[in-house]
Amino acid sequence: MGRLSGKVAIVTGGAQGMGAATARLFIENGAQVVISDVATEAGQALAEELGGDAHFCLHDVGNEEQWQSVVSMAQSLGPLNVLVNNAAILHMAAIADTTPEDFMRVVQINLLGSFMGIRAVIDPMKAAGGGSIINVSSIDGLHSSAGLAAYSSTKWGVRGLTKNAAIELGQYGIRVNSVHPGGIFTDMGGANSGISEEEMSAGFYPEFPIPRVGRPEEVANVTLFLATDEASYSTGSEFVADGGWFAGMRKPGMPCS
Ligand SMILES: NC(=O)c1ccc[n+]([C@@H]2O[C@H](COP(=O)([O-])OP(=O)(O)OC[C@H]3O[C@@H](n4cnc5c(N)ncnc54)[C@H](O)[C@@H]3O)[C@@H](O)[C@H]2O)c1
Repeated sequence: MGRLSGKVAIVTGGAQGMGAATARLFIENGAQVVISDVATEAGQALAEELGGDAHFCLHDVGNEEQWQSVVSMAQSLGPLNVLVNNAAILHMAAIADTTPEDFMRVVQINLLGSFMGIRAVIDPMKAAGGGSIINVSSIDGLHSSAGLAAYSSTKWGVRGLTKNAAIELGQYGIRVNSVHPGGIFTDMGGANSGISEEEMSAGFYPEFPIPRVGRPEEVANVTLFLATDEASYSTGSEFVADGGWFAGMRKPGMPCS
């Protein structure tokens, strides 16, 4: 028996990166998964590779009407138990170089998309007798970095939205938590720049408590725990998988560095 046997899940942005690792792990643990993404080719290829329990749905999380299609597809498989709001985009620029249009494009997908996802699954999860919503925020939803005004604002927003939804939905057996990855080796984390995982670790992570870049599976395992009934008393909480980034750094010249 898998840890998610009999459960139906939606994973947004599931065609690649952490979403794909999550979809894969959920299926290995017995779930049926709707992989939602705007990347049709990659999403279809992954669904084909993962087999009969994987279903691709072309879905822009920033479009409210399309949320109905993805939820309908999930409900055609059985009662809907799990939503992972994982899809997001990154806009890196100084505030002075970020236009209101740039800012709102990030809000539309990262924050409004998560909000619309929660709205869309409330009734289906109530009908299913409960559920688990996992909102993928970021370490940048706990602190911030230069050049991330739009991104970091949405990730703080996702963290706040998580608290609110947890308070409102706990009474219906729906748990809502946020996951906060640090630097993870995906396209968003720089894997598409041509640099290897080892080069990335050596170049950017030597002072981290765990001195290497993270892997998508290491975050997917946290998300898996939250999706299962093992996390039955956890809601409104922040689950960090950041190699210790938020704890602090080993500084050159200091003892034990
Ligand atoms: N990689 C990191 O270092 C890192 C760190 C902290 C948080 N995160 C967060 O983790 C999550 C996954 O990131 P990743 O690193 O796997 O990114 P990624 O860029 O590799 O994958 C993101 C996926 O989302 C899809 N997507 C983009 N816009 C969409 C939309 N409008 N509707 C549906 N799908 C859409 C993309 O097509 C892609 O498949 C994101 O929420 C991201 O903000 C990533």
